Amino acid sequence: MYRLSRRHFLSAAAGCSLLAPWSRVLGANNDIRVVVLGVNNIGRTHMLGFPQIPGVRVTGICDPDSAVLGKRAEEFSKIHGPVKTYSDLRHVFDDPDVDVVVVGTPNHWHGLATVWGCQAGKDVYVEKPCSHNIWEAGQMHKAATKYNRIVQVGIQRRSNPELKEFFQQVHEGLLGELKVVRAFYLSRRNSIGRPSGPLKPPATVNHDLWSGPASTELKRVKYHYDWHWFWNTGNGELGNNGPHILDLARWAVNGTQLPEKTLSIGGRYAWDDNGETPNSHIIRYEFDAAPVVFEISDLPTAKGKKDRRSYEGINYGIVVEGEKGKFVGFDKGKLYDPDGKVIRELNKGSGPDGGRQHHRENFIKAVRSRKTSDLNCPVHDGHLSTALCHLGNISHRLGEPVSFEQMKEQVKESAPLREAAARMTRQLSANDVPVETMTVQLGSRLTLDPKSEKFINDPAANALLKREYRAPYIVPEQV
Ligand SMILES: NC(=O)c1ccc[n+]([C@@H]2O[C@H](COP(=O)([O-])OP(=O)(O)OC[C@H]3O[C@@H](n4cnc5c(N)ncnc54)[C@H](O)[C@@H]3O)[C@@H](O)[C@H]2O)c1
Repeated sequence: MYRLSRRHFLSAAAGCSLLAPWSRVLGANNDIRVVVLGVNNIGRTHMLGFPQIPGVRVTGICDPDSAVLGKRAEEFSKIHGPVKTYSDLRHVFDDPDVDVVVVGTPNHWHGLATVWGCQAGKDVYVEKPCSHNIWEAGQMHKAATKYNRIVQVGIQRRSNPELKEFFQQVHEGLLGELKVVRAFYLSRRNSIGRPSGPLKPPATVNHDLWSGPASTELKRVKYHYDWHWFWNTGNGELGNNGPHILDLARWAVNGTQLPEKTLSIGGRYAWDDNGETPNSHIIRYEFDAAPVVFEISDLPTAKGKKDRRSYEGINYGIVVEGEKGKFVGFDKGKLYDPDGKVIRELNKGSGPDGGRQHHRENFIKAVRSRKTSDLNCPVHDGHLSTALCHLGNISHRLGEPVSFEQMKEQVKESAPLREAAARMTRQLSANDVPVETMTVQLGSRLTLDPKSEKFINDPAANALLKREYRAPYIVPEQV
């Protein structure tokens, strides 16, 4: 049934190519009609943010959790009046009165929802991480191109003009030759628990639709959000906050393709829980301009404390070290000369809703102009910053447990990595992790061909470029 409808829309889309771009598809008064998929948390900000743009209406919201859907419909209707509700995203794609879908679902749905959206003739704003795996990002790009769709990835600092100008100057030599980019996401989270016995999804959720391409296995007590910590549905902290931070690092080194070499070290410590992804993680990427070393921690500075670690005063962001100076910051920050004197401040920030509003406005501008070149974060850019996360996770998953002493020996050739590893080891000790007797996962040393985005002579790593999709929720080989 869904297939039939989809064919209908494909032929309708083909038929309209002779008409003016929006003569058929836009709503009354050329309004752009938006439906938000997934409205528990970030989707809520999209539901409230898009209607603030002139000529844009949120006409519907979609969520397989009826409790979330009902709550958000009520909230929305108090401000803007009634909104159409959908529990199955396929009905959104089948709806001819929808121009744009915003994908605020968990990561495992991003690829398929974007491909289906493009096939159905919708433009798509998809949240970060761009994809759940590297292969499906390629399919998203192909679908956007084939169906002439506008697809923006929600890495919103790309819509910050001050950062754009600053990184352009860095590329032109503002900091001289770059030595290293240190990147940080130093947070504090809690164990998600190790429940005994089988778990059931909340009665309000259609768990089949929620799971989509992923297996329906359930190992978490908190249904929403904690899916981040399982490979089946999430990509760990690296794929959660990493796309934002690594995007800045990639911007700084002007990385227009993926690096050839990636190495990860880390593990999940101090918590006795079902989570699978690391809570202490370091990844080194070798870009042409300079190495990038990303440090992630979800533990406090010491056991029992309610704080988080910092480096040069920041918990998250980047430290770009060059011959002629250093930048420390996130979307705001300071530029230092080699003597440590502040010579410039970036202080404008990214604007309302953490930069998301400007990013939505940029997307809508491109929806109207029909030019992907107007987008600040098209699929290719969102993919590159997201794929860095996937590379780090692939290295981690294919690694082997070694002693902390052995790990130290293995990373000694790279000073930034060695220093980061020492900080992680000290922090774990302070959290009562017995590093003398415990192991750390030393990741596989990955070598990638940046052109084909395939690993060289590494079938195990190549196997992790793609997931197993659960029928009928399969990203097609031919989009
Ligand atoms: N750009 C940013 O700054 C930013 C910030 C937070 C989250 N995010 C991203 O947004 C996404 C969602 O994060 P969250 O914190 O809102 O997660 P969440 O788990 O709190 O909410 C996700 C919602 O999506 C719904 N959902 C699941 N399957 C669906 C489907 N098939 N159709 C429609 N809805 C579906 C869930 O029921 C839930 O209500 C994640 O990918 C996350 O990485 C981006």
